[in-house]
Amino acid sequence: MRIAILTGGGDCPGLNAVIRAVVRRGITNYNYGMLGIKRGWAGLIRGDIFPLTSHAVSGILPKGGTILGTSRTNPFQPTESVEENLAAIKSTIEKFGIDAIVAVGGEDTLGVANRLVKEQGLFVVGVPKTIDNDLGGTEFTFGFNTAVAIATESIDRLHSTAESHNRIMVIEVMGRHTGWIATYSGIAGGADLILIPEVPYDIAEVCKLIKHRHARGKDFSIIVVSEGVNPPESSELITQDSKLDAFGHVRLGGVSHLIAAEIEKRTGFETRVTVLGHVQRGGSPIAFDRVLATRFGIKAVDLIAEGKNGHMVALQCGKIVATALDDALGCLKEVDKDIYEVAKTFFG
Ligand code: F6P
Repeated sequence: MRIAILTGGGDCPGLNAVIRAVVRRGITNYNYGMLGIKRGWAGLIRGDIFPLTSHAVSGILPKGGTILGTSRTNPFQPTESVEENLAAIKSTIEKFGIDAIVAVGGEDTLGVANRLVKEQGLFVVGVPKTIDNDLGGTEFTFGFNTAVAIATESIDRLHSTAESHNRIMVIEVMGRHTGWIATYSGIAGGADLILIPEVPYDIAEVCKLIKHRHARGKDFSIIVVSEGVNPPESSELITQDSKLDAFGHVRLGGVSHLIAAEIEKRTGFETRVTVLGHVQRGGSPIAFDRVLATRFGIKAVDLIAEGKNGHMVALQCGKIVATALDDALGCLKEVDKDIYEVAKTFFG
């Protein structure tokens, strides 16, 4: 058997840990031939494939990024290239004798995997990856907890400077559709307010809460904002440019500037903005994500051996299990209301 692995979408701490685990499990336990596909689905289309040996994955466990490279290539876009792309994928699969693919990605990459299974008869197993933690079917995606750790450290650092200057600090973290990173890092960092896409906010109420906090002697505030929240009194998401990627997503970022300006105007308190950006996706994974990514990688190869086509590995009740891609992709995993309630206890 020959197994090929690819990483697609935005990179994420722990990708290399998955690659290492897949390769080591495949070689040691099943004697599979292992191949690496470069830059996500783009590499499968172009036939950009190379052998992955145990030696090739040695030493990559703690490294950020992905040794395979990644891209947001969608073989099903643009529509006029679909036939050509699918023909190219088939010819790559024949040329390299690929029996099964491990696709490591989020909703977009795994959405493509699911279509290739159903519409083209490919054998694909998924591994859930996104710092956003918004994929269904799994309690955590790997990379999320590392992003939370980075955001938490940043909030801690903002705390001391906020206090020295009696300022309001607005920190914007990633989370395209959901506020997982904001909620977790906000709780861990002791945020005075957390704004997430799942919970609409009223800027007048936000300012009232800050004024109230300052009136009781707290003359600084930390506000954590998800990039996916709407600007004050508007439903237009703030984007960095008007271009869409191959999956129809805009590039978010910058809403915190509008929120901060409105807060400063309405409260009179000096306000500063930090947009954390790709810092929270870069660098070494924390131990939790290394372990989760390793467990996911091992289980993904086991699923191939068990013939579980069209499934994704997932963390459920502490165990690594198989879940149908259809179920995982069926719904966006929004922030648990109970967890947001925990955060709310400390607002103001
Ligand atoms: O989907 C993961 C994510 O990190 C989002 O939180 C963020 O909006 C997006 O990727 C950023 O994408 P890019 O790397 O293309 O700027």
